[in-house]
Amino acid sequence: MGAAKTLQIAIDGPSGSGKSTLARRLAKALGFVYIDTGSLYRAIGLAAVRAGVPPEKPEGVCALLDGLNLEMRLEDGGSAVYLDGRKLGDEIRTTLVTQYSSQVSKIPQVRAFLLETQRETARKYSVVMDGRDIGTVVLPDAQLKLFLSASPETRAERRSAELLAKGERVTKEQVLADLCQRDENDQNREIAPAKPAPDAVFLDNSGLDAEETLQAALAIVRERLGDLPTSV
Ligand code: DC
Repeated sequence: MGAAKTLQIAIDGPSGSGKSTLARRLAKALGFVYIDTGSLYRAIGLAAVRAGVPPEKPEGVCALLDGLNLEMRLEDGGSAVYLDGRKLGDEIRTTLVTQYSSQVSKIPQVRAFLLETQRETARKYSVVMDGRDIGTVVLPDAQLKLFLSASPETRAERRSAELLAKGERVTKEQVLADLCQRDENDQNREIAPAKPAPDAVFLDNSGLDAEETLQAALAIVRERLGDLPTSV
């Protein structure tokens, strides 16, 4: 008997479109592993902050990669990132680390450094993986590619609610400006720009809450992959 076939679902889209919320819930519903690839870029952003390395200087960031002890481990149905043996949490979600992560993600050596880690974690299990270049670069053979989007205003509203809940003092205008800057960086970088794969299915969730987004995604999963057992 051959090994059971694993399935890969890629979710790409801009910042604040709700990719991670959808990916986590979809993975849970399908019994797949959720892999958050942004956390790897954020970990490198954090390492740059800690080392006092300006993120827009590729030489400094590349020098940092040499000694970087970065690991992605699968635990509790999802992925956890460890830097120097310590599990990372909310320290990779601050506004500063978020800006750094977008900057370092433009550096080709950073993307190359993270590519195999991402593919390796997707090899053994059925996964839902979210990011910016999952359908185009990391998992080009994924059985289903979703491109999730929402209006900039909706995305800024969600992001500011998230940050306020964590105690960061932000205004919606500031968050919208940061988000547009990040969209600009992520979409226009030379390597692996955040663009939909030609075979991606688009889902705009501007008017939808998390549950409605999940149901819309499950309808696409059923249509494209047939009836998979779900727990919702
Ligand atoms: O998804 P996120 O907001 O946690 O991602 C943080 C940054 O990392 C984002 O600005 C873009 C970058 N990123 C990327 O370039 N490619 C990915 N696959 C995931 C994230």
